[in-house]
Amino acid sequence: MLYSSDIQLITPQKRWQVVHHSVLQQKNIQLWICHLDTGLAEVSGNKCLKLKYHLLQVVQSGYAGVVTFGGAYSNHLCAVAACCHTMGLKSVAYVRTDELDPTNPTLAFCRQQGMQLIALDRSRYRQRYEPAFINEITASHPDLLLVPEGGSSAAGSLGVSELDLASTPDGNADLILCATASGGTLAGIVNGHDCNVLGIAVVRDASLPLRVQQLINKENAEPQWRIDSTFTGKGYGQFDSNLLAFCRSMAAQKVYVEPIYTGKALAGAIKLVEQNQIPPDSRLSFFHTGGLQGLQGLRHRNLITATDFALLSGSVAD
Ligand SMILES: Cc1ncc(COP(=O)(O)O)c(C=O)c1O
Repeated sequence: MLYSSDIQLITPQKRWQVVHHSVLQQKNIQLWICHLDTGLAEVSGNKCLKLKYHLLQVVQSGYAGVVTFGGAYSNHLCAVAACCHTMGLKSVAYVRTDELDPTNPTLAFCRQQGMQLIALDRSRYRQRYEPAFINEITASHPDLLLVPEGGSSAAGSLGVSELDLASTPDGNADLILCATASGGTLAGIVNGHDCNVLGIAVVRDASLPLRVQQLINKENAEPQWRIDSTFTGKGYGQFDSNLLAFCRSMAAQKVYVEPIYTGKALAGAIKLVEQNQIPPDSRLSFFHTGGLQGLQGLRHRNLITATDFALLSGSVAD
């Protein structure tokens, strides 16, 4: 049973924060970040919105829990595990990995929340959108609701569409921006707003525009949104020292971002301003989609130092 106190726990509090940067100042651009925080640290940003209607469907249809997919350091898996644990629901995840590493902090958290983890090698994982594969998974877990990777479904986008990202503390935004991976967040924002929306892709995935389009339920929405794919770098999860330095500079003004999603997209947004691809004198609204738990995985793989981990996650004492 989903109790109102459970929904309360994943009902977000909205918080706006302004970003300072010399490039923004030069172009007279205001950049507001919208944060969403909940009672569960792993369920911040877009996670609470994308999971809301999936969890309601679990309860209304009498499912025992959720079965889903994600990478070995997935923010989505952490969020599903935390929600299901809190709500007394079962959770099962198919993880893109050859072997379940017992020292991986993301998977350890999921396990600790009671999530059952099943390793799926990369070639099998690639089939995750194929109907035959989905039918097979559904048949193996008849008591669980299948939630697609990243929670990107019509239900996930519906939750996102309820968030007002346009009304910044300084007035209406001219453009809303977000990091884009599986596309449900971008589609939800487009469905919920009349303003222009820009998804900054953090993955190299040629099928992304079509998948976003399939989740958009408005007619003639095309002129209103686009995806910029020029900031993926070497691909999902890859980042260079410049991006890390950018994340550090943001942390210095208490804007905490990581280089996989929010940092990559925010750095891209500022680059677009610099290149005049975003008109000067605009007011921008950037959705902070969460994901700071991913820093633990970067630290675990020695991709960032302990000092950067503390700095970027905001755990350094002032
Ligand atoms: C922190 C973070 N930001 C952005 C995204 C991208 O959202 P979407 O997959 O809906 O495009 C994700 C993935 O869900 C994420 O974990």
